[in-house]
Parts: sequence; C-alpha cells; structure tokens
Amino acid sequence: MGANTVINDDPTLTPRYVKAVRNPPIRVVIDGKMRTPLTAKVVTNKEAPTIIVTTEQADRSKITQLMNMGVEVWVMGKERVNLKDVLERLFTEKGVKRVLVEGGGHLNWELIKEGGLVDEIRLTVSPYVFGAGTSFIEGEGYPTTMEGPRLRLKSINVCECGQEVIINYIVERCCSSI
Ligand SMILES: NC(=O)c1ccc[n+]([C@@H]2O[C@H](COP(=O)([O-])OP(=O)(O)OC[C@H]3O[C@@H](n4cnc5c(N)ncnc54)[C@H](OP(=O)(O)O)[C@@H]3O)[C@@H](O)[C@H]2O)c1
Repeated sequence: MGANTVINDDPTLTPRYVKAVRNPPIRVVIDGKMRTPLTAKVVTNKEAPTIIVTTEQADRSKITQLMNMGVEVWVMGKERVNLKDVLERLFTEKGVKRVLVEGGGHLNWELIKEGGLVDEIRLTVSPYVFGAGTSFIEGEGYPTTMEGPRLRLKSINVCECGQEVIINYIVERCCSSI
C-alpha cells in the first residue's frame, strides 16, 4: 500500500477472516519520502514481515531506525520508486508471484498508468457512505475511457456477511504509458 494509507488508517495489514495461512504475506509499503511513522502497526506488529520501499529522499537515520526495528528497507530511485522494478525485485529476491495492492488511490493510479502491471481489479462495494477524497483512482487519471485499460467482468460475489459485493474485473488491454 501507499504511504498515505499507512499514515491515515494505520492498518495491521495481516490476513483476517481466512482459516489457515501458512506464511503470512509480506507487507510492502511504497513510501518515497519515508513518512511511515515508527509507531505504525506495519512496523511494530511482527506477525508478518514488512518491506518499505523508498528513495534517496528518505532520511538516513530513519532508515536505520526502521531497520533496527526489523523492517527491511529498499532504496530504489532518486525521487520516485519505479514500481515495475519493485515487482521484479519482489519476484527475484522473495519469490513473490502475486501481489494484492490495497491502495490508496494514488498508488492504484501509479500502477495502472504504467500499463501491464495490473492483471485484475477487485472492487468491493460496502454499505458505507463516504465523502470526497476516497476514490479508487486519484491523481491525473484518464481524460476519456479510450485511454484507460479495458476491463472484462470475471465474477461477482457476495461476501459471507451478506453485506458486501465483490466485483472482479480482468484487465484485458493496457493503456500505453503516460
Ligand atoms: N476503501 C479502501 O479500500 C481503501 C484502501 C486503501 C486506502 N484507502 C484510503 O485512501 C487514503 C489514502 O490514499 P492516497 O491516494 O491519498 O494515498 P496512497 O496511495 O495510500 O499513498 C500515496 C503516497 O504513496 C507514495 N507513493 C506512491 N507511489 C509512489 C512512487 N511510485 N514512488 C514514491 N512514492 C510513492 C507517495 O508518498 P510521497 O508523497 O511521500 O512521495 C504518495 O503520496 C487513505 O486515507 C485511506 O483511507 C481506502
């Protein structure tokens, strides 16, 4: 997930509502300026490993502090993290074959705009009403539907609680990089 989601929501980001997970998934935070608080649950909670991917903009002493707290820190890029490089490194160094991106909207946009990095989009409709600033995609976005990826509906499921609908789309055609 992106740095703002860590800062605003402070999620533990561990699996819940599933019966057996042998190896908890690695938590990965994309945080260009290393704004993740030392008190964030992804740092203090030890139920799963955490990697924070940052850039040369990050404060060196904070990197050291986080590493001393057991967090793996990857410095990748001068000002921005190249997300394709992150996915490749996750595969080659950690054997990661599947990544679930939990947002927020800015990180979602950064991945989608690259083209070819996103295979599926899962939208969950929940019975809550929010205000502005909680969009699935934030940032620049596409001027028309023609520029964006084409999505094909794969499945619609109602979650066990009976209150949420999960809509699963396959990304069929990727936009060209913007
Ligand atoms: N409804 C849901 O399921 C759901 C899920 C997740 C989040 N959310 C909501 O979304 C909100 C946050 O969303 P958001 O769009 O503001 O933020 P976000 O996507 O969580 O984080 C964006 C930040 O991540 C860093 N980042 C992203 N891509 C980067 C890159 N390529 N290189 C370097 N840094 C990168 C940047 O930090 P810097 O600006 O410091 O460089 C950027 O500002 C939260 O308040 C949360 O409640 C909702």
